Amino acid sequence: MVAALRQRKVTTPFTGMLKEARSGQDPPCYSYSTYANNALEPHMSRETLDYHYGKHHRAYVDKVNELIVGTEFEDASLEELVAESTGDIFNNAAQVWNHTFFWNCLSPRRQSPGKELNQALESLGGLESFQKQFDKAASALFGSGWTWLVKDTKGAVKIITTADANTPVRDGQVVLLTCDIWEHAYYIDRRNDRAAYLQNFWPLVNWEFVSANLTSG
Ligand SMILES: [Fe+2]
Repeated sequence: MVAALRQRKVTTPFTGMLKEARSGQDPPCYSYSTYANNALEPHMSRETLDYHYGKHHRAYVDKVNELIVGTEFEDASLEELVAESTGDIFNNAAQVWNHTFFWNCLSPRRQSPGKELNQALESLGGLESFQKQFDKAASALFGSGWTWLVKDTKGAVKIITTADANTPVRDGQVVLLTCDIWEHAYYIDRRNDRAAYLQNFWPLVNWEFVSANLTSG
């Protein structure tokens, strides 16, 4: 069943935190080990990174580690948990996976989509049209969840949203880009202004990572 989860493994410091987080040591925090925790300013503040990555993301890691003790999933990889678990274990594992992927989608270095990605986005009317549709989908998402650019099982590029912790990788879709639409992602910087959060999301997009997902998926 895990083979059905086609997305390649994501790699940010929390990726390997299942089990390791139980050691009680400080996590190799994203904001300190990848780049300075103010590197995404002014679009995403140091305080948001400290809370969103250092507390929210970390809490999902700690919780899933706690929940899998004594279960059939005790030795499972993160990908196996996302593919096979249910209930609270799935919710926390999927949130770890989704957040890890989300951090990969951001970069302090301003980028533009490459040729191949631009071509893929033509089916959505080109980059600008895609961004507008993505914003619209994200704005319309009721409650908490995620907005995604995915390549579906037929190879079509499309925008989807998922509620709560749900993740399209479980359905065999290849995820290219995501934006976290949980309020904890933007309340510190933007209060309840989701539109402002989205406006500040685009300058941070790691298009090289998105392109790599397109070609490897
Ligand atoms: Fe989040």
